[in-house]
Amino acid sequence: MVMVRGKDGKVNVLYNRCPHRGSMICGDRSGNTGEFFRCSYHSWTFHHDGKLKNIPMMESGYEGTRWGRDNPDCNMKRAARVENYRGFVFASLAADGPGLLEFLGRSKVAFDDICDRSPEGKVEVVPNCFRVIQRSNWKIFLENQLDALHPSVTHQSTGRAAREVELQIEKKTGKIPLSYHMLSAFATVTIDKWDNFQTLNYPGGHCILTGYMGLRPQDPDTSSTSACSPRPTARRGRKQSSPPTSTTCSSTRGCRCSRRCSSCARCARSAWTRHSPRSGTSG
Ligand code: FES
Ligand SMILES: [Fe+2]
Repeated sequence: MVMVRGKDGKVNVLYNRCPHRGSMICGDRSGNTGEFFRCSYHSWTFHHDGKLKNIPMMESGYEGTRWGRDNPDCNMKRAARVENYRGFVFASLAADGPGLLEFLGRSKVAFDDICDRSPEGKVEVVPNCFRVIQRSNWKIFLENQLDALHPSVTHQSTGRAAREVELQIEKKTGKIPLSYHMLSAFATVTIDKWDNFQTLNYPGGHCILTGYMGLRPQDPDTSSTSACSPRPTARRGRKQSSPPTSTTCSSTRGCRCSRRCSSCARCARSAWTRHSPRSGTSG
């Protein structure tokens, strides 16, 4: 499938196949297709919504045939249903079935958790297509994603190596990049702490893992993130009914979010009323 934003801003999800002889239309995983799609086999062109734009020699070569702009079979086929939740686009190839919100059920909290960490209430994925191909039964893959007990064992050597580099960087610069913190946790956080993770299962086979940032609650990066994250129940445009529980950034290096807290001595920038610490976030 190919997902493309049209000039009108609308997202279209199309089968990545030419309706003529079935060639793949887009070979790249991401990018800008320009004004229209053009098939590399016989140069049929298509608008971003999949509708046929032109066939070379359409008038002379195809006159009297069923090929033409009036025939929907000449369009790139669209996914039967497309919906988005907080900017995450889902497509279904089935014309019937539960709607997206019904399908996600309570597990939509996983997307809320990602988006609500941003003061703007939304996130942007940059810059590339991230794709995982797992050659196994999909249930094995999911099971591993939710297994919080194995990292301090299976990934311990990674954690140790990261910790060594982490200490060198700290010695040189006085601070450690978050990317190293995330890896060194495999060695520095003991298995009983990993056991604090929570796997939450929801109807429909959806599940999430919570508590990743809580692994290193005293870590400056964790403190900074927690201090800047609105409460899980907070939503864009809605005012908090209770005052923020803290307006002081607990990070030793100050907030690093785009809107810094109002009364924090270290940040002292623009006001952000949703400022409140939070311990457990999913990861
Ligand atoms: S297969 Fe695409 S134009 Fe012929
Ligand atoms: Fe793992």
